[in-house]
Amino acid sequence: MKFFVDTADVEAIAELNALGMADGVTTNPSLIMKSGRDILEVTKEICEMIDGPVSAEVVALEAPAMIEEGRKLARIADNIAIKVPLTWDGLKACKVLSGEGHMVNVTLCFSANQALLAAKAGATFVSPFVGRLDDINIDGMDLIQDIRTIYDNYGFETQILAASIRNVNHMKEAALIGADVATAPPAVIKAMAGHVLTDKGLEGFMKDWAKTGQKIL
Ligand code: G3P
Repeated sequence: MKFFVDTADVEAIAELNALGMADGVTTNPSLIMKSGRDILEVTKEICEMIDGPVSAEVVALEAPAMIEEGRKLARIADNIAIKVPLTWDGLKACKVLSGEGHMVNVTLCFSANQALLAAKAGATFVSPFVGRLDDINIDGMDLIQDIRTIYDNYGFETQILAASIRNVNHMKEAALIGADVATAPPAVIKAMAGHVLTDKGLEGFMKDWAKTGQKIL
């Protein structure tokens, strides 16, 4: 499973990229707002740092304007994936932009039928929002599984990009189901390294090592 980093914080992206943990980046209007940066500037900076796809989202609501915004975003760098919402207009924009050879990430997907439409419209990625479904007592991972089954039934090449990932269990479950990508905040990716038994084991080793009086360096 590829890891995308769900942030526009360039320092956090750089740290994960240095470890090979940033196969791509996803942003959205809320994350751009949080960064306090200009969308074109910060997206360019991220694209220069990362080899993989960097999603930048359109904000128009009608297809013609979405297409124009998408073309402008795509001019930032070759690794831009244009993010459009999963609306009827977003699907129209997806069809045109993917037909022009751009990567398109169809976002705000909350149902298997929406994901089926995104694949039919030529999406490179579909982004089902796991955490926001969990928030309303619907198991977000069931949606990832349903989309996996549907895409595999018909050989759709659209990649499932599990989004709105909130915790380490979401990462594990997405990987078990076979999501192609999971996009997560940097803190969630870093938290995957944590285990109470690792901490406890290390503490024991350090205590015993001190008793030996030895040094390696
Ligand atoms: O990947 C989509 C993400 O940015 C939304 O996450 O936590 O606001 O639902 P969240």
